[in-house]
Amino acid sequence: MKLICVSNENEMSIETSRLIASLVRIKPNAILGLPTGSTPLGTYSELIRMFIEENLDFSKIRAFNVDEYIGLSGYHPQSYRMFMQKHFLDHINISPDNTFIPDGMTDDIDRECREYDERLESFGFADLQLLGIGPNGHIAFNEPGDQFIAHTHCATLTASTIEANSRFFDSRDQMPSRAITIGMRAIMSSKRLVLIASGRAKADAIAKTCFGPVTPQMPGSIIQLHPNATVIVDEAALSATGLFGDDD
Ligand code: GLP
Repeated sequence: MKLICVSNENEMSIETSRLIASLVRIKPNAILGLPTGSTPLGTYSELIRMFIEENLDFSKIRAFNVDEYIGLSGYHPQSYRMFMQKHFLDHINISPDNTFIPDGMTDDIDRECREYDERLESFGFADLQLLGIGPNGHIAFNEPGDQFIAHTHCATLTASTIEANSRFFDSRDQMPSRAITIGMRAIMSSKRLVLIASGRAKADAIAKTCFGPVTPQMPGSIIQLHPNATVIVDEAALSATGLFGDDD
């Protein structure tokens, strides 16, 4: 695992967007695995800038998202489909046919999960899988539990995740309690994995993910076993590792 420490969130976004842009230039039909959340917003903005100012071409790129809330249609303002359109996909020249996000309104969750997995497998999984991390260590919506779950599945969100993510909803009651998420097989089968985090709220999760035991209680820790993983964090997100002599 390669650990890149930068001084702040903006530098994290610049560094991350450079990695993605290099791949897009070298392999114009690359498969990108993408997350939502506040953390990748700066990366998406920078990629949009590169599309506008530097002709970064997404026309052959295929992008799949890691998760979607169950019960929200793609037109719901808090759906991850809407998030991706608003913050990234609507602003680049990616073909809508090449963007994939689980259907949160499916009438058959098992079938949706199975078909999403089959599609990812038919792609050969991601050339670059970008991930954020939840304060409790979740990646995509793989929540802490007794075992790592391999396949795309329906996750019941933990109280801590509902607490963390309900800030985007008018009230906590409106936040869905379940989501469809890719599993560890798709994440670990990616050719390159890039996990990003910034700020003190992620410090505990980053310390355990990078330097703790590999355990499903801290889902992010599985990336220690990935053969080509890069973690890009700012100093605040590394503050619980003791690497800077500041673990308070
Ligand atoms: C959600 C997403 C994750 C994301 C996490 C962190 O729970 N399912 O993929 O990594 O939020 O969000 P943020 O970047 O806003 O802290």
